[in-house]
Amino acid sequence: MEKKIFSGVQPTGNLHLGNYLGAIQNFVSFQNQENTKCIYCVVDLHAVTIKQDPSELKNNIRETTATFIASGLNHEKSILFKQSSIAAHSECSWLLGCYTKMGWLNRMTQFKEKVGKDKERASIGLYIYPVLMASDILLYDTTHVPVGEDQKQHLELTRDIAQKFNQEYNKKNFFTIPEPIIQNEFARIMSLKDGKKKMSKSELTDLSRINLNDTRDQISNKIKKAKTDSLPIPSDRKNLKNRPEAENLLSIFSSLTNQSMQKTLNQFEGKNFSEFKTSLSEIIIEKISPISDEIEKLRNDHSFIDKVLSDGKEKAEKISSKKVAKLKEIIGF
Ligand code: AMP
Ligand code: TRP
Repeated sequence: MEKKIFSGVQPTGNLHLGNYLGAIQNFVSFQNQENTKCIYCVVDLHAVTIKQDPSELKNNIRETTATFIASGLNHEKSILFKQSSIAAHSECSWLLGCYTKMGWLNRMTQFKEKVGKDKERASIGLYIYPVLMASDILLYDTTHVPVGEDQKQHLELTRDIAQKFNQEYNKKNFFTIPEPIIQNEFARIMSLKDGKKKMSKSELTDLSRINLNDTRDQISNKIKKAKTDSLPIPSDRKNLKNRPEAENLLSIFSSLTNQSMQKTLNQFEGKNFSEFKTSLSEIIIEKISPISDEIEKLRNDHSFIDKVLSDGKEKAEKISSKKVAKLKEIIGF
């Protein structure tokens, strides 16, 4: 059976190593598989669930698209488009919201984490964010969704919404029930300053993350300053249990070299972190610098980026406008 892949990334700032290892690297590998159609979306409607400066948002949409291309996504093999250019996403989101229980949304941990204690002042958009994400996925009869581990719960909700709709209208196969694809071993890349927090665009200090557009000097400086502990590298993963920063750096190395954690531990056993950090910087620079060089080249080529997005829009719209028309017919409009 043909695989249909869909995933999205928010244009809310520089993409980082967590985005690359948790998501984008996977996007590229699907694109090169046989019998697989891939659609990747810059989810700008999701971005406005938090306050955005208009000119920065515009810039970030291009920057995220450039990062997709620089990371190896090919706009002729895959469809690359921006969410706000296709009305079907918003339309479908409204419709699916009518089949989504508040109880389901109340369980979403990302919402709870984002609003903290200030729930009364959070926007409705932030609350129904997962319904829009479900619409993105279901409009394209997606079979597989490559995402980082933090999105797993949203995928489960998407499956619940799809199943509920199919049941309610007795249309067993109208919405395809999608499967999440989550890289198991190194699914969550953590902050360089706190091994218990995930690496994120929103953490205040830039020293907490490696951005895909960092220069070589920035990368080695950030790795030098990354938090570790004074113990040497152990031979067994069990001994990393209460050492989240150490474990994170070793995970990043393993993921970038495509080798198991055990192999990395064998390689560096007994060495201290200052020595390991030199090797880590080298491998990050080797993998990330070609991407940052390419982003730099594409960054000012607005007409190329805009053309990629408008071609993508045309292709994606053909698929999603048909789906939303069928959806409306089933509902009775
Ligand atoms: P976002 O930047 O939140 O739109 O995330 C884009 C993709 O990157 C999603 O699939 C996330 O799950 C993934 N992602 C974001 N941060 C990390 C992280 N620290 N580790 C692994 N994956 C991540
Ligand atoms: N919510 C996702 C994130 O923050 C982004 C996203 C929006 C997405 N729509 C999607 C991911 C559809 C996969 C499929 O990372």
